[in-house]
Amino acid sequence: MAAPKLLITGASGFLGGALYAQAQEDWRVTALCNTTCFPGMVALDLSQHDAVHAFVRRLRPRVILHVAAHANLDACEKNPQQAEQINLTATATLLEAADAVQARLVFVSSDMVFDGRRGMYRVSDAVSPLSVYGRTKAAAEALIQASPGAHVIARAALIYGRPRLGGGSFSGWLESRLRERQAATLYTDQFRTPVWVENLAGQLLELAHNDFSGIIHCAGAERADRFRFGQILCRLAGYSEQLLVPVSMHDHETAAPRPADVSLDTVHTRQSLKTPLLDIEEGLTRMVSQDLKVF
Ligand SMILES: NC(=O)c1ccc[n+]([C@@H]2O[C@H](COP(=O)([O-])OP(=O)(O)OC[C@H]3O[C@@H](n4cnc5c(N)ncnc54)[C@H](OP(=O)(O)O)[C@@H]3O)[C@@H](O)[C@H]2O)c1
Repeated sequence: MAAPKLLITGASGFLGGALYAQAQEDWRVTALCNTTCFPGMVALDLSQHDAVHAFVRRLRPRVILHVAAHANLDACEKNPQQAEQINLTATATLLEAADAVQARLVFVSSDMVFDGRRGMYRVSDAVSPLSVYGRTKAAAEALIQASPGAHVIARAALIYGRPRLGGGSFSGWLESRLRERQAATLYTDQFRTPVWVENLAGQLLELAHNDFSGIIHCAGAERADRFRFGQILCRLAGYSEQLLVPVSMHDHETAAPRPADVSLDTVHTRQSLKTPLLDIEEGLTRMVSQDLKVF
C-alpha cells in the first residue's frame, strides 16, 4: 500500500527542515516553501487564498502539518498586518482547504499564547498573549477549536537545535557567539520548557499519524531559564562557560514584550504520545552528536 500523503508548510524553515527530513520514511511528503526554496520543495505563498485551495484540492493530502508562520516576535510587533496575514488568515485558509478534502490539520502554535505570569501552563488554561505574534497564534487556535474537524493545535515551546536546511534559533545564535569566543548575555529570569527540534518533529509526526485531536503541549521535559540552558550547552559542547553573562530580561528593551515564564505542563502530552520528551541534557547530548544529513 502506498504511504499516506503529508503536506508540510514552512518546510524551508528551522522546524520544517527537521520535519521534512524525518517524515520521508513513513509519508509521501510534499514540502512547501515561500522565498527560500530547497531542492524538491514547492513554492507557494500561503497568503494566496485561491492558489492554496487549488493546491490542496489537487494534492488531497491525508494530513497538513502547518508549520509556516511569521515567527519573529519583534518583526510581528512592527508589522501586525503581515503577522496576521500569515499566522491567522493563511491558517484559516488552510483550515477550510483541509476540511474541503477531509484532511487532518496539525497546526503548530506557540507557548507565546500565555502571558508568562505563572508558568507550567496546562492545556486547559486560558490564553492571554502579550504580543502581536502571540495574539495571532491565539486567534488561529480559536478558529481551529471552533471548527468541527478532528484537528490538532500543537503548542510548541522554545525550540533549540541545529538547522537541517533554513531558519535559525536561539541556540544557533548562542553557539555562533560561543564558537567565535564572544560573550553571550543570557536571561536568568526568563523560563521556558525548551524542546530539541528533532524531538519536536518526532512529537508532531506522531500527532500526524495518531487520532489525537484538540490542544497539546509539545515541549521538552524540563523548565529552565536561558542562562542555565547556556551552562548545560557549554558543558556538553565544550564551550567556555566564562563567556556566559547572566542578565535580567528587565534590563533589555524589545519591540515585542516577552513573557517571563511560559513553561508548559506536559502531563497530558506524556499520556497521549509514545515519543519520549527529552530534558535539556538529553536533547543537547543528541544535538551535539547529530548527523545533519537531510535524507
Ligand atoms: N522557533 C521557536 O522557538 C518557536 C517556538 C514556538 C513555536 N514556534 C512555531 O513553530 C513554527 C516554526 O518556527 P520556525 O522557527 O521553524 O520558523 P522559521 O524558521 O522562521 O520558518 C518559517 C517558515 O514559514 C514560511 N513562510 C513564511 N511566510 C510564508 C508565506 N507567506 N507563505 C508560505 N510560507 C511562508 C517560511 O518560508 P520561506 O523561508 O521559504 O520564505 C519558512 O519556511 C512556527 O509556526 C512558529 O510560530 C517556533
